[in-house]
Parts: sequence; structure tokens; C-alpha cells
Amino acid sequence: MSAAPPGAPPPGPRVERPAPTIRVRHLSHRFGSLDVLRDVTFDVGPGEIFGFIGPNGAGKTTTIRVMATLLEPMAGRVEIDGVDVTIDPAAVRRSIGYMPDHAGVYDRITVREYLEFFADAFRVPSLDVVDAVLELTDLGKIQDRIVATMSKGMKQRLQLGRILLHDPKVLILDEPASDLDPRARIEIRDLLLELRSLGKTIFLSSHILTELSDVCTSIGILEKGRLVVAGPIGEIAARLEAVRAAQAHGHAPPRHAAAPAGYAAPAAHVHDAPPPYEPGAPPPGAAAGPLPAAAPPPGYGPHPPHAAAPASAGQAAAYPALSPLLSRRKVKVRVLGEPEAAAYLLRGGPGIADVAIVAGAVHVGYIGNDVKIAEIVQHLVRSGIGVIGVEPERNELERIFLEVTQGEVQ
Ligand SMILES: Nc1ncnc2c1ncn2[C@@H]1O[C@H](COP(=O)(O)OP(=O)(O)O)[C@@H](O)[C@H]1O
Ligand SMILES: [Mg+2]
Repeated sequence: MSAAPPGAPPPGPRVERPAPTIRVRHLSHRFGSLDVLRDVTFDVGPGEIFGFIGPNGAGKTTTIRVMATLLEPMAGRVEIDGVDVTIDPAAVRRSIGYMPDHAGVYDRITVREYLEFFADAFRVPSLDVVDAVLELTDLGKIQDRIVATMSKGMKQRLQLGRILLHDPKVLILDEPASDLDPRARIEIRDLLLELRSLGKTIFLSSHILTELSDVCTSIGILEKGRLVVAGPIGEIAARLEAVRAAQAHGHAPPRHAAAPAGYAAPAAHVHDAPPPYEPGAPPPGAAAGPLPAAAPPPGYGPHPPHAAAPASAGQAAAYPALSPLLSRRKVKVRVLGEPEAAAYLLRGGPGIADVAIVAGAVHVGYIGNDVKIAEIVQHLVRSGIGVIGVEPERNELERIFLEVTQGEVQ
């Protein structure tokens, strides 16, 4: 057995990650005096559906144009499947299928003619591919229809069909679902899932947060040309949860965790780093500090209504990077009997921002993490209220977006 070479990583368990399919490093670009992209760095792993999210003007299309070899970056580098877009753009073009935003289709030919034309242009060896693409995009039934007579959703699927003809490994889709009606959006979503199951890596942009979020395995959020966060949705949520845990217990979160820019590490870093939390603060999800054994958590009601929302103001000062309003969460609590008694007990309690009764359930807005939910339930049960359902509001992506962005466009 030979000794490890100098500088080799120490032995020990190590999770091998596959090389990223898309690798973006320190990408910067300006148009005139406008910094459109500033030091954007992220990875997209093989087989992922990566949602590139940001308001109009954030720089999504500029990033995509660099990835698609249509724009040379002023600084930084982009590799697709290990190939640098500026060094070998022809090889990159063979491995990507790029669908621009607002791309038109030729109108006065049939669906089949359209695909055959592009198959020919891409030098696809067999026209059987056209049949396969017609089937995959579910356009077989209307293959003899004139393109001009198709709906927007169908035209969009035809566009997707066009970029599949040369069987690319990576699909780069700029706003693929904008302007589509809900049914067409669902159909595109299903098609993306099918393409992923065929082994494609998919990069898509959207200025509408929830548009395709349910198919994305990971996301990057771009704001004013800066990447504010990137990585798998679950991991980003866990990191924010750690910040929240620190927040709920009066610890200042570590700087890199509090500042949204701290999340902009390459996805590999996001994967590797444990969720940051203040030493001494509990890890996310763990019960934080001893809960009072018998007495209800201090400060709980009943309280007069004017005492509501005492918790948020002080926390706002301590956490300028995370507005307490945005880190407010909701839980729906169902109780036996009349919900008014439960609402009365909770109003004005510590960390309780608002309480409302909606359709027989008590909707509680609170500041804090899951420990707060446990406290709420404990308080109700100790006060003799039968709790029959607890449903935390979980729209991870919306919460992440609100927490890490400032609402700025350039
Ligand atoms: N060719 C160009 N010349 C000058 N400015 C441009 C050009 N392309 C884009 N921009 C500007 O760059 C910014 C980012 O644009 P873009 O990348 O299209 O954003 P997004 O796709 O996120 O809406 C916008 O302010 C836009 O006006
Ligand atoms: Mg755009």
C-alpha cells in the first residue's frame, strides 16, 4: 500500500458527488454602465430540474444566453457537461437544447413538417426521431395540423419537441411556462418530469415563483444580478430554519447565515456545509432548552387583545437581514368544541403575532420555529382544550423567496 500523496484529503467517509452538469463560476456581465450579472456562482447536478427564479430584469436571460453560447461573458466561466462555453461552443451546442423566451414558430407548415425541417437542419440521421418526439410531446394526433392554428400551449410543446430532436443531455428553457394557461402549464410540467425520467438535466427560468416550483429539485434565486441563494429546496429551507431557531432563542445567527448573500455559495458548498447555527443554540428541529414541566410557557394568555404581537418588534432590531414579518409562519390548529376558547388562550402569547378563526380552525401566525408549534399545542392541552389537528403551513419556496430577497429590481 502506498502512502497518500501530500495534500491528499484525510481518509474517512466522504460522499462522492457526481460532477455538476452545469457549472457557473463568478459570472459577471455588464451592458453599458449597468452591472447585469455580478459574480454569479452555482452548480446544477445531473438529473436535476433547476429553477432559476427572479423578477424581470434580474439577469436570468443574460445568464441563459451565456450558457447557450450566444453571449460571451465579461468575466467568469460556464461549463456544460465539462465543456467551457467560450472554449468549445460547438460541442456545447450539441449537448444542449435551448428554448428562448418568446420564441416564434414557423406558422404556415404542419407540425410534422416543422419537426422534419429542424431534424434535417440538425442533421438528425433518422426521421424516426420525429415520430418519437411527436409521441413524447403528445403531438402525434395533430401532426398534420398547420402550426398557425395551434394553441399557445401546443406551440410551446412543439418548441420543446424541436429542441429534443438531437437528443441533448441538458435542456435550457427560458421562461417555458410564461403566458400559458393552467392546463398547458400542467402539461409542460408533466412533460418536464418525463424528460427528467429519461435522464435529462433541466434548467428553467421563471419570474413567477410558484409557476413550476413543484417540479424543481433545486433552485437559484437571482436578484439584481446577484445570486442570493442556490441549492436543493429542502436544504435551503433547513438552513433558514437554523437561522430561525437562533432567532427564536435570542441568539444572533452567524453572519453568513443571516445575510442572504451567504447562501450564494456554489451548490456543492450548500450540500457540504452543515446548516449553520449559533454554538449553543439547538440544531434545527431539536427541542431548544428545557420546556417548563408543569407551568404553561410564561407569558401565555388569556391576554387582553391590545397586548397582541409583542414579540416581533424587538426581534426586528436584532435581525435586520430577516424582517420578522417575512419570517412569520402560520399553523392551523383544529380543536374539539368551539375554537374561540383556543383563540382566546393564544392571543397575545409570546411569539404569537395573530390569531384568527377560519372555517372552524384556529389560524395562528407566529414568529419562531417548530418548537413554537409544540409550545402552542402544549399550552392548549394544559388548558383543557382537545387538540385534534395541527397543520403547519409549508410553502417552502415562497417562504425562502421572501426571506432571502429584498424585493429589488434594477
Ligand atoms: N442587449 C442588451 N443591451 C442592454 N441591456 C440589456 C441587454 N439585454 C438585457 N439588458 C438589461 O439587462 C438586465 C437583465 O436583463 P435580462 O437578463 O433579460 O433579465 P431577466 O431575464 O431576468 O428578465 C435588464 O435591465 C435588461 O434591460
Ligand atoms: Mg428573461
